[in-house]
Amino acid sequence: MKAGFFFSVLLSMLAQLSQAQYQYQNLMNYLESRMAALEERIASWQEQNNRYNTDLKQFKNQAADLLHKLGSEHEKLREELEGAGVRVDRVEKEMDYIETKYPPKPCVKAVDKMLEQKPVTKERKKKDEFFEISVCVDIVSSIRAMKIVKRLGSTKGAWTKDSKTAKVYVFNGTSEDTLYEFSSVKELSASSGMSKGKQITLPMAWNGTGHAVYDGFLYYVTERSELQVIKFHLENSSVVDSAVLPVQDQLSVYSFNPETMVDLIADEEGLWALYTVGDTINLAKMDSDTLDIEQMWETSCSRNNAEAAFFVCGTLYVVYNTRPPSRSRVQCVFDVNDMVTPGEAPLVYFPRRYGGHSSLKYNPVEKQVYAWDDGYQILYRMALKKKLWAIMPPPEE
Ligand SMILES: *[C@@H]1O[C@H](CO)[C@@H](O)[C@H](O)[C@H]1NC(C)=O
Ligand SMILES: *[C@@H]1O[C@H](CO)[C@@H](O)[C@H](O)[C@H]1NC(C)=O
Ligand SMILES: *[C@@H]1O[C@H](CO)[C@@H](O)[C@H](O)[C@H]1NC(C)=O
Repeated sequence: MKAGFFFSVLLSMLAQLSQAQYQYQNLMNYLESRMAALEERIASWQEQNNRYNTDLKQFKNQAADLLHKLGSEHEKLREELEGAGVRVDRVEKEMDYIETKYPPKPCVKAVDKMLEQKPVTKERKKKDEFFEISVCVDIVSSIRAMKIVKRLGSTKGAWTKDSKTAKVYVFNGTSEDTLYEFSSVKELSASSGMSKGKQITLPMAWNGTGHAVYDGFLYYVTERSELQVIKFHLENSSVVDSAVLPVQDQLSVYSFNPETMVDLIADEEGLWALYTVGDTINLAKMDSDTLDIEQMWETSCSRNNAEAAFFVCGTLYVVYNTRPPSRSRVQCVFDVNDMVTPGEAPLVYFPRRYGGHSSLKYNPVEKQVYAWDDGYQILYRMALKKKLWAIMPPPEE
């Protein structure tokens, strides 16, 4: 299945030799991102290291050679690329086998250096590239590292960090009214349980895992006779505003998380809401002060087999899975500014899984995703690159 999909991508790219150079570059980016994912998995398997490192080195040399030959021998190139693809598939299959046979240890040394984010100060804010979001041209290229921070609560839930105040919030379950606040990820990971955090009780229970926290405010979805977004001030424990969402289809955003009817994202630009129309995930931009809806997009990403999504620099990444759980992967990308070309869309694979993700929350300051995977709280550190349009003109039609 994986191999088939990969090859259909490969072959359709190769079919258009008029854009050969451009397309080969995309293909190499894609192979590179898969190699990067493999490298991470390999890092956690010291005893297998030598063998696979040799494989990887060979492959990398091959890939470098191929790039040099660009522009000449297309047919030969095509064959060699196919060969390279087979190698990637083979190494991935072997890693899958090894991981199934020997379940991974919960903590990976290589990623221990993931640092705690300090609260954002005024001076820092000025310098920080993220806050000039209109010029943000980053696209996710791969997952650089992962860290399993904790295992607490039920199989479904969400955790996130306020990228403004740096506080961490834990939402256990999909219809509860009590969340827990921690001053840092470190405090959470050292605590003996969720209830060691500061307890905050909401006037109405949340539904699903689509909560967002930004600048001391919690935005969450509650579902009684209608779907409502509540804006809640965490420090004062007070409801600041609420709005009814004009969502007609009573379908979850992601087919694998039926409790989440609306997924919210809050950032410097405002509030974003993901919901479903038909089988398609739609995106709405809301004013975070008034909760007015300002703009809507149909993303063309399907809700079927989707488990979660995250939002980086104006680009939505929808993550898909299959049952029984296989590796989660980004398989649909939507850019609100229409600046990401389809060939550029990275097929990012997540390193490994316990079940499926019930939520993925991207923190733009740390460039990492706060994930809840079958009761595990996981951090994925993302490798970013520049969107293609920012470094080269788009290909001619
Ligand atoms: C987490 O939620 C589950 C069900 O949603 C509940 O059974 C469990 O007691 C909760 N854990 C804590 C620590 O609150
Ligand atoms: C939303 O949560 C409330 C409170 O736990 C629950 O009574 C209700 O059934 C939930 N709604 C849905 C559609 O799951
Ligand atoms: C929080 O409470 C303080 C003190 O009562 C008040 O001045 C402030 O406006 C409140 N903030 C919000 C967002 O409600």
